[in-house]
Amino acid sequence: MAENIPIEEYLQQISHATDIIQSKINANPAISKPRVMIICGSGLGGIADILNPKKKIEISYSQIPGFKTSTVQGHAGKLVFGLIGENEVPVMCMVGRLHFYEGYTFQQTTFPIRVAKELNISTVIVTNAAGGINESYKPGELMVIEDHINFPGLAGWHPLRGPNLESFGPRFQPLSDAYDHELRKLFVKTANNLGIKRPIHEGTYFFAAGPTFESRAEVRAIRVLGGDAVGMSTVPEVIVARHSGLKVFALSLITNAGVGEKPPSALHENPKALDEGMASHAEVLETADEASKDVQKIIESMVNEL
Ligand code: HPA
Repeated sequence: MAENIPIEEYLQQISHATDIIQSKINANPAISKPRVMIICGSGLGGIADILNPKKKIEISYSQIPGFKTSTVQGHAGKLVFGLIGENEVPVMCMVGRLHFYEGYTFQQTTFPIRVAKELNISTVIVTNAAGGINESYKPGELMVIEDHINFPGLAGWHPLRGPNLESFGPRFQPLSDAYDHELRKLFVKTANNLGIKRPIHEGTYFFAAGPTFESRAEVRAIRVLGGDAVGMSTVPEVIVARHSGLKVFALSLITNAGVGEKPPSALHENPKALDEGMASHAEVLETADEASKDVQKIIESMVNEL
C-alpha cells in the first residue's frame, strides 16, 4: 500500500499542478477562472458534453504533475474547462476519478480537490454511481446526498489522517454541515422546473472502500447502520473539499439494487438462484448511460444559477 508523501512536498505538488493548469487555461480568458468543479461518476462522463464546445480546453491527467491516471473502465482521465449555460458559468469537469481501491492513497485521490481550491473554485458538484440499499430505491433513480457514513474513516483510513494542511483548513473539521442545504434545494427545484420524471430521493451515502460489490450480509449491515446507498468514492473528496472551505453538492445515481436477502439454503428447497440480482460493472454503466441525460440536464440548469 502506497504511503502519504511529506506535506511540504505535497503542498509543492499542489502549487506546481495549479500553475501548469492555470498557464494552459489562460490561453482562453473566458474560461480561465473556473468557479465550479464537477466530478463525473462512473458512466457520467457525458456531463462534460454540456460545456459550450466552442470554448473548451481539455487537459489529460498525464500532462499534470501530481495527477494520477484512472485505471477504471468508464473513467477517462482528463480535466475539461469550459462554460455552462446562458450565464456562461466557468467550470472545471473532472472526467474520470481516482479511487482508493485502485491502490492510490487518499492524498493522491483527493489531490484534484486541493488543486481546485488553489484555482479559486468555490463549489464542488460530485456525482457517482451507487448501489441501492434503501429498499424503496430502484435502479435509474437519483439520490441527493444529505449525509454520509465514512466507514473506512471510522476505522482510521481517513483522508485527513496525518499532519494537518493548516493553509487549507482546521485539524478537526466538522462535517455536520457537509452537504450544502441551498444547493440541495436548488437541485430539487431545478429538476421540478425541468419536469424530470425520474424519482429523486434524499439520503445517506455509505462509503465502502471496494473493489468488491457488497455481500448479502454487508448489504443488510449497511442498512442497519443507516446507509441508503453504497459506493466506492465521493466521501474522501467531499471531506477534503469541506476541509478546503468549498461548498459541496453530491448526487448518487442508483445503478443497481443491493442484494440483501439470505442466499438459498442448503437445508431446504428454495426457488431463487444464487446469482439472482447480482451486481456487475456492466449493469452499473448501462443504467448510468440511460439516466445520464437527465442528470446532465439538471446539472446544466443548476450550474447556470450559480
Ligand atoms: N456497491 C458499491 N459501489 C457501487 C455499487 C454497489 O452496489 N453500484 C455502483 N457502485
